[in-house]
Amino acid sequence: MSIANLQVVLASRPAGKAAESDFRFVEAPVPQPREGELLVRVDWLSLDPYMRGRMNEGKSYAARVELGEVMVGGTVGTVIASRHGRFAEGDKVLGTLGWQRYAVSDGKGLVKLPDPRLPETVWLGAAGMPGITAWMGLTQIGTPAPGETVVVSAASGAVGSVAGQLARIAGCRVVGIAGGAAKCGYVVAELGFDACVDYKAGPVDAALKAAVPSGIDVYFDNVGGEILDAVLRRVNPGARVPLCGLIAGYDGAELAIRNVYSLLVNRVRLQGFIVTDRMDLWPGAMKELAGHVASGRIKYRETVAQGLEAAPRAFLGMLRGENFGKQLVRVSDTVPDTANQAGKTPVER
Ligand SMILES: NC(=O)c1ccc[n+]([C@@H]2O[C@H](COP(=O)([O-])OP(=O)(O)OC[C@H]3O[C@@H](n4cnc5c(N)ncnc54)[C@H](OP(=O)(O)O)[C@@H]3O)[C@@H](O)[C@H]2O)c1
Repeated sequence: MSIANLQVVLASRPAGKAAESDFRFVEAPVPQPREGELLVRVDWLSLDPYMRGRMNEGKSYAARVELGEVMVGGTVGTVIASRHGRFAEGDKVLGTLGWQRYAVSDGKGLVKLPDPRLPETVWLGAAGMPGITAWMGLTQIGTPAPGETVVVSAASGAVGSVAGQLARIAGCRVVGIAGGAAKCGYVVAELGFDACVDYKAGPVDAALKAAVPSGIDVYFDNVGGEILDAVLRRVNPGARVPLCGLIAGYDGAELAIRNVYSLLVNRVRLQGFIVTDRMDLWPGAMKELAGHVASGRIKYRETVAQGLEAAPRAFLGMLRGENFGKQLVRVSDTVPDTANQAGKTPVER
């Protein structure tokens, strides 16, 4: 095979904000599978906020990417050569093959797409890791009861949009927090949230107060920082806060919780969680989420960067909120661009 592989490797560790110069493109020969291995063409790459943490030197909950190493990332791809008993040429596979066009795998951590009837990018979004994260935080920590008020930050994003829709399905009043009128309009009109606070439009405090007349029982936090503090001013006694992410601080900003008093006075349970801690819950969650997507109860939206060359810029844009819904890269131009940029369900499309 004479085609070349293209890879994106970590060139330098960001000091403060990450930049395109922290990534480097490398051309290499396409690797050939040995006995017990398979060669996958990466069709779709998922871009996720956790990747920013992997670029740092310091200890995180998962191993850092080493300098010169291919950036880590969830992928959907097509098997193009197999010397592995479990996979055949043409199989569509979900795995973590990283920012590259081709990868050889020994099959560990690779699964065939669970349900070929759903669009393949769903397994990187609403029915994949981000959706499972939403499910995990909400069902294991948030435990919302019907009639309670659930607030979700980064509400139009991959995790937040699913968290809010699951809360709505559970019979809760759901209030999103998102940046900009378009995102807020979408979560209310398309996703069925009851209200949404545009944190870029003015002080969050007053807008949040108006949006949660009965206070907040569950806060699904994707952001941290000032938004968490504003929420803590409105929590009800016994509130639960699944701490999912702190994106306000990933790109170098310092974060602190000022309203710590509210945690005590309101007996708030704030608990961080990492979705990979409970792999035993993944199959059930995936099945439930795929069912919701297939029936149209959960809608999702995707932003697609075209070609691996666009990955660094799209990744940095996502950290700044330029994505609308799940951020993907269509790595292979041989697959149809089936990404859902209209926020419709597979049923409606
Ligand atoms: N704990 C886990 O296991 C786990 C697993 C997956 C994801 N996560 C976390 O879940 C969160 C959401 O991830 P995702 O994949 O769904 O990303 P996403 O929400 O699709 O994209 C990131 C969004 O964050 C928002 N944002 C960025 N900077 C912000 C700031 N300073 N203040 C408020 N909002 C800001 C932007 O939306 P706006 O335009 O609305 O600001 C942006 O679109 C992240 O914190 C991520 O690390 C955690």
